[in-house]
Amino acid sequence: MSETQRPHWGSKMGFILAAAGSAIGLGNIWRFPYITQQNGGGIFVIVYLLAVLFIGLPVMLGEITIGRHTQRNPVGAYGRIAPGWRFVGALGIISGLGILSYYSVVAGWTIGYAVKSIGGSLDPNGFGAFLGDWRQQIGYLAAFSLLTSFVVASGVQAGIERMARVLMPLLFLLMLGLIIRGLTLPTAGAGLKFYLMPDVDKLTTKTFLFAVGQAFFSLSLGMGAMLTYGAYLKKEDNLVTCAVAVVALDTLIALMAGFLIFPVIGHGLHKGGPSLVFVTMIAQFSHMTGGTVTAILFFVLLALAALTSTVSLMEVFISYLIDEWHMRRLSAVVLTGTLSFALGVPSALSLGAVPSLTHIIHGKGFLDIFDFAFGNLALTLGGLLMCIVLIYRWGFRHAADEVLGSSPKFRPFAQTWKILLQYVAPVAIAGLLIYCLVTGTGLS
Ligand code: TRP
Repeated sequence: MSETQRPHWGSKMGFILAAAGSAIGLGNIWRFPYITQQNGGGIFVIVYLLAVLFIGLPVMLGEITIGRHTQRNPVGAYGRIAPGWRFVGALGIISGLGILSYYSVVAGWTIGYAVKSIGGSLDPNGFGAFLGDWRQQIGYLAAFSLLTSFVVASGVQAGIERMARVLMPLLFLLMLGLIIRGLTLPTAGAGLKFYLMPDVDKLTTKTFLFAVGQAFFSLSLGMGAMLTYGAYLKKEDNLVTCAVAVVALDTLIALMAGFLIFPVIGHGLHKGGPSLVFVTMIAQFSHMTGGTVTAILFFVLLALAALTSTVSLMEVFISYLIDEWHMRRLSAVVLTGTLSFALGVPSALSLGAVPSLTHIIHGKGFLDIFDFAFGNLALTLGGLLMCIVLIYRWGFRHAADEVLGSSPKFRPFAQTWKILLQYVAPVAIAGLLIYCLVTGTGLS
């Protein structure tokens, strides 16, 4: 595709909403609250904010900068800034496809539960049976994959940007409404205390690593998603305000999610992980005034958050097929949608439906293994390689020039950005990578 034909966002706001949509997802509304709760509450929130500021933000700016400079998909982009390093982009697009496949399974549950709440058949004890029912698992996975494919097939401006412009404000309002409902419940006080009370004893090296990992996943970093969206920015768009806005929105929504979930569930003694949302929340909805409506809105909220994320995961692979293989967008979507659905099937069946997929190693199933390999290992490795390539292969000067071209006021901060990308982020990310490799477990 020639440069002039390449799609661009209609405006900088379009980019910010779409990229915030990518970042804001199940990671914010579901993973952030329970990771916070398991890692010392308020103290984790503080460490997380530091990780976002000193590691997430510089890496985000780095990815967007590479994308805007090269106007390419991750493989083409790394090829341009550092010949011989295309594999970093390849690692990214493969991880994207891997994450898309199992993320769509979980995203499918949110539609499943929205449908169940509309039908009035929500049952906190029904989660196990739901997971083990292959028809529902495959059906909702197929439904979510189709929904994602439909948006991506409509193109960057008419599909992704338009969706984000409508859904992101809606998501925000839904969330506000649900927070207000939750704060009026008798459980609110105990829940807030549980969420925010700093438990300093839980502050260990692991806390820092988890904070970095959560920041990476939540900000959609490490696999070229932000690079891909950045590649649709125009030369005059200010990259610094873009990066800051996306990071701020993602963090705001994560913090808000805590204020939504904890007042509803009250104090502790519940399991984190999938059951936090699909069991504990439902049990609470079932004895709350207006519980059915609240449940419907809650699962719609989750589904919207997930959709804007799956769309961006899919777009990474699409942009690769269009740029490098000159495919038409529609053919690329059909191919990617089919691939990710096919890869998602073993994950969907690994939750009880097929025992051999449910327990592969150490009680972990196919979905867990994919999450570990792609959602943990590959993202951290990708982030580490990005820092190395940007600083040592492409050269920081070029990156700084790209940023300064549209945001001259950034000059006084350029040196800080360099230090963060050259030392702080790589050390923290390498620590996380080593932790994952040595323990053989991811973050969730
Ligand atoms: N950030 C998403 C969330 O919080 C998940 C995610 C991780 C993601 N990497 C991504 C989404 C890449 C899109 C692209 O749920």
